[in-house]
Amino acid sequence: MDALRNKYLGLIADAADEAAIEDVRIAALGKKGEISLKMRELGGMSPEERQVAGPALNALKDEINSALAAKKAALADAALDARLREEWLDVTLPGRPRPAGTLHPISQVTEEVTAIFADMGFAVAEGPQIDSDWYNFDALNIPGHHPARAEMDTFYMHRAPGDNRPPHVLRTHTSPVQIRTMERIGAPLRVIAPGRVYRADYDQTHTPMFHQVEGLAIDTDISMANLKWCLEEFVKAYFEVDHVDLRFRASHFPFTEPSAEVDIRCSWEGGTLKVGQGDDWLEILGSGMVHPKVLQAANVDPAKWQGFAFGLGIDRIAMLKYGIPDLRAFFDSDLRWLRHYGFAALDVPTLHGGLSR
Ligand code: PHE
Repeated sequence: MDALRNKYLGLIADAADEAAIEDVRIAALGKKGEISLKMRELGGMSPEERQVAGPALNALKDEINSALAAKKAALADAALDARLREEWLDVTLPGRPRPAGTLHPISQVTEEVTAIFADMGFAVAEGPQIDSDWYNFDALNIPGHHPARAEMDTFYMHRAPGDNRPPHVLRTHTSPVQIRTMERIGAPLRVIAPGRVYRADYDQTHTPMFHQVEGLAIDTDISMANLKWCLEEFVKAYFEVDHVDLRFRASHFPFTEPSAEVDIRCSWEGGTLKVGQGDDWLEILGSGMVHPKVLQAANVDPAKWQGFAFGLGIDRIAMLKYGIPDLRAFFDSDLRWLRHYGFAALDVPTLHGGLSR
């Protein structure tokens, strides 16, 4: 009995994992285990022998069973300890620094403009940057022979050889969104449409890709006075001042009648651009009353509806507000410039929270 006991307790002590423990259990207490076989021998013993051997074997069986269970628990604890030692994590370490990105001034200004016009009840509309000549020109009362097509320095897309349809264009302004929006929701409406536009032009205040916000308000009794009020309110809110000198200049666009261009007073002294002072004027937008032919082209009845439209240069007003003298720098992707002029991503411009802080 003692030999059996020493043998199995020794094997249990040496077992290195759960599989080894199971092997020991089967060898001792399995159907054909050594101790099980011994218990079967009890039947052939005399009653006196059985009275001694029976309880002793039962006690041995219990002892081995609890040694097996204890070893199993010890192994599980050891495994957990090892894993905890392996997978430690120092939660007091500082986070890894990430490259700090900033919002481009164009994105910031687009958000600011959107917040101001949203407050005046304008929804935001969109259109494609590659558009047909119908939306970019014809529907806006710029027929094929019109000099405005040449003046716009249009980028034309290629057509496959033999395809004689008029080529698509990179939109030269956001005005095609006027047509698309009227087609989509009809009248009345009040929308702005910010986005990229393209013209072959390059100097300190022109880049081949730039940004505009189109404005369009259609209703039964809209006048030039409403246009002027909206633009003045916009400019004051945008520049965060009580007064800005604006100049409305009579102008001409095929898609508005009458038309006006709007300039803002500024100075360029010492290479810095300042708004609201000086003797210079910077043109920031074109505007006017929507031409009846434009309404007609978009299936809006000009006998019933009228409205104003404007196209505002986002890049220009960004330069003015944030004192950025050269437009070309906007698109150079110079990290130092972006860090200097960029905005924190979480400072969402709102009228109540402050536009630019
Ligand atoms: N689309 C004109 C431009 O790009 C601006 C404009 C828009 C003028 C709407 C009048 C009305 O120059």
